[in-house]
Amino acid sequence: MEKKIIRVAPSFLAADFKFLDKEMKRVIKAKADWIHLDIMDGKFVNNISFGFPILNAIKDYPIFKDVHLMIEEPLKYLNRFIDEKADLITFHIEAIKYKKDVKQLIKTIHQNNIACGISIKPSTKVDVLMPFLKDIDLVLIMSVEPGFGGQSFDESSLEKISELRKIVDENNYNCLIEVDGGINDKTYSKVINAGADVLVSGSFLFKSANMKESIKLLKGK
Ligand code: DX5
Ligand code: ZN
Repeated sequence: MEKKIIRVAPSFLAADFKFLDKEMKRVIKAKADWIHLDIMDGKFVNNISFGFPILNAIKDYPIFKDVHLMIEEPLKYLNRFIDEKADLITFHIEAIKYKKDVKQLIKTIHQNNIACGISIKPSTKVDVLMPFLKDIDLVLIMSVEPGFGGQSFDESSLEKISELRKIVDENNYNCLIEVDGGINDKTYSKVINAGADVLVSGSFLFKSANMKESIKLLKGK
């Protein structure tokens, strides 16, 4: 059987922000598939990360921009993320009260030719995604409580990854499974074996002396 393609997305949260240009070039040179950009508002999560000025500063680098919104009211700010050339916008299902707003977000993101993802926290069940799976491009399963980099991998996410893999395959959904939080040389293989397509990794990749080799490792090469 052909080996499955695994994409790796370094999480920019772990970069050295004194050297934005250098860090972006490092990621691109290391042949990362995507750059993962964590947007936190201090309300949906207990932390504030970075926002539009940083996205604007890196918008023209030639890499797929995977924007992970950990914010309340994503609809309110959606156009701003679209303007900053996101390629994929992922919002948290827990941040949205009404199903119609989830549908609206998916519709608006797609109308702008941007891929759409939905993320779930460790305590949220895969079931809540069922009404939307046929319409979205990706599910982001959090394997740590969102808000901070450098936390340890929550093993209970593995069952959720396998459960979702089964649902996606059985229904032939065109939906990637991305996993985020605590992914490193010790945890990546469990995540891949459970059925993930995209691995986000922050502290492990940015701390590594040779990011290119570390990305290769996570891709199973
Ligand atoms: C956490 C963020 C993650 C984080 C991952 O809320 O969504 O993307 O940066 O960092 P590590 O790989 O260090 O757990
Ligand atoms: Zn993230």
